[in-house]
Amino acid sequence: MRLEGRIAIVTGGGSGIGQAIAERFASEGAVIVLAGRRVERLESVSAGIAAAGGRARAVPMDVRLAADARRVVETAVNEFGRLDILINCAGILPLRVPLGDCPEEVWTAVIETNLTGVYHCCKAALPALCESRGNVVNIASVAGLKGVPGNAVYGISKAAVIQLTRSMAVDYASRGIRVNAVCPAVIETDLNRDMLAERRTRGTYDALLKRHPLGCFGEPADAVNAALFLASDEARWITGVALPVDGGVAAS
Ligand SMILES: NC(=O)c1ccc[n+]([C@@H]2O[C@H](COP(=O)([O-])OP(=O)(O)OC[C@H]3O[C@@H](n4cnc5c(N)ncnc54)[C@H](OP(=O)(O)O)[C@@H]3O)[C@@H](O)[C@H]2O)c1
Repeated sequence: MRLEGRIAIVTGGGSGIGQAIAERFASEGAVIVLAGRRVERLESVSAGIAAAGGRARAVPMDVRLAADARRVVETAVNEFGRLDILINCAGILPLRVPLGDCPEEVWTAVIETNLTGVYHCCKAALPALCESRGNVVNIASVAGLKGVPGNAVYGISKAAVIQLTRSMAVDYASRGIRVNAVCPAVIETDLNRDMLAERRTRGTYDALLKRHPLGCFGEPADAVNAALFLASDEARWITGVALPVDGGVAAS
């Protein structure tokens, strides 16, 4: 029970890595506020956590809207008394194109969701996190650490999240707040299922696999283990890091 009594918001908690974080954090004793747009997904994850003996509350929201971010934080504080952990996991992955071929509306959607969404949630959560001396874990990407062919806008959004992580870490360390990032490489989820299926069809799946030195893609649990460590007291002296969880991609 490494998170006993902690109150955690997980954006993107209705699917994939966010769902896996929510379920694991609940099993470690945290009360989870699940945030995302699809209410039926959030309710289903919340019901699963309750059935396993945990506690969760679904709050439909859009990270692109500052008012929604404030409402999620208010729900955590009003219903559970405090906020200890913010997991920024909501994100989108556009079709792969070089920057010059990226339509402006795609640029805007990716930046508003992956970067501005993190800003809104952090800003809304900071007063409560200052009170609890809490922490933030941003789910960035290895694409924010190195150039990935055809993945410019996504990589730019995640690189900015990594810099947001470092900036917040140094600005709020004196208030007792830690801010860290997890940078996964490929983990099969709804985010990339179509892309991976298309690669299987086109015969380029193995080339992507080979870019991972450990020879396999990750599992949601790999990202969860890193997020749990960073959010827990075991990481009490760690802030401002962008931890690759990537089968060796960042090192290659
Ligand atoms: N899977 C990978 O290989 C991989 C690698 C590196 C980094 N990541 C990052 O990991 C995070 C989770 O991705 P995933 O792989 O678990 O994919 P996923 O299952 O598609 O999860 C993305 C989540 O973000 C939520 N979301 C998207 N736009 C939102 C918005 N405007 N407001 C609120 N919630 C929003 C989605 O819920 P709704 O649609 O219901 O809103 C969904 O639950 C993302 O930030 C992604 O960039 C993933």
